[in-house]
Amino acid sequence: MILLSVSSSSSSSIAAVFSGALILFNFFEATLGAPCPINGLPIVRNVSELPQDNYGRPGLSHMTIAGSVLHGMKEVEIWMQTFAPGSETPIHRHSCEEVFVVLKGSGTLYVAETHGNFPGKPIEFPIFANSTLHIPINDAHQVKNTGHEDLQVLVIISRPPIKVFTYDDWFMPHTAARLKFPYFWDEQCVQESQKDEL
Ligand SMILES: *[C@@H]1O[C@H](CO)[C@@H](O)[C@H](O)[C@H]1NC(C)=O
Ligand SMILES: *[C@@H]1O[C@H](CO)[C@@H](O)[C@H](O)[C@H]1NC(C)=O
Repeated sequence: MILLSVSSSSSSSIAAVFSGALILFNFFEATLGAPCPINGLPIVRNVSELPQDNYGRPGLSHMTIAGSVLHGMKEVEIWMQTFAPGSETPIHRHSCEEVFVVLKGSGTLYVAETHGNFPGKPIEFPIFANSTLHIPINDAHQVKNTGHEDLQVLVIISRPPIKVFTYDDWFMPHTAARLKFPYFWDEQCVQESQKDEL
């Protein structure tokens, strides 16, 4: 666009052809469903057709609806996750804002307020279809399907890609929590983009 506005007519047509080729490239990348389609996010998509995976976690189905590493989102990231009965997230914390909307099912949210050297015994909140959860920044938490049917949630986080610190239990010191970055569903695309830069 900048090239077009400052250049003579001959170089502007070259720029036009070039940007046309870029648009075509992005279009094909998006329609062919590249695994890491940066800048290839179509305006309207059918969630039923997006890829989902359990990333090695039994009972989980994760889908990145709009992601930073996957799609080039800058400030928010949206997931849809389904937890089979009995399955759960790790105990973890992160320094981003996070809001859940429970689409179906029921379960328990555990939250430990951040003070002291370890999370400590968490507060338990029952969660249910149409409940919405706000996780305070950096508070250790865990979502578990304690019900008898699938628990499905829409998750919105700020400041992606997410940097997660995980705990083995509620009494593990904060200093011993393990950083998992990139997180499971970001791994493949972070590695691809690193490869591209070498
Ligand atoms: C969305 O995708 C699902 C699964 O492929 C399909 O059954 C449904 O018809 C699609 N919806 C529309 C409006 O195309
Ligand atoms: C959630 O609340 C909205 C607004 O009241 C309502 O339209 C919708 O049917 C509710 N959904 C469920 C699953 O209860």
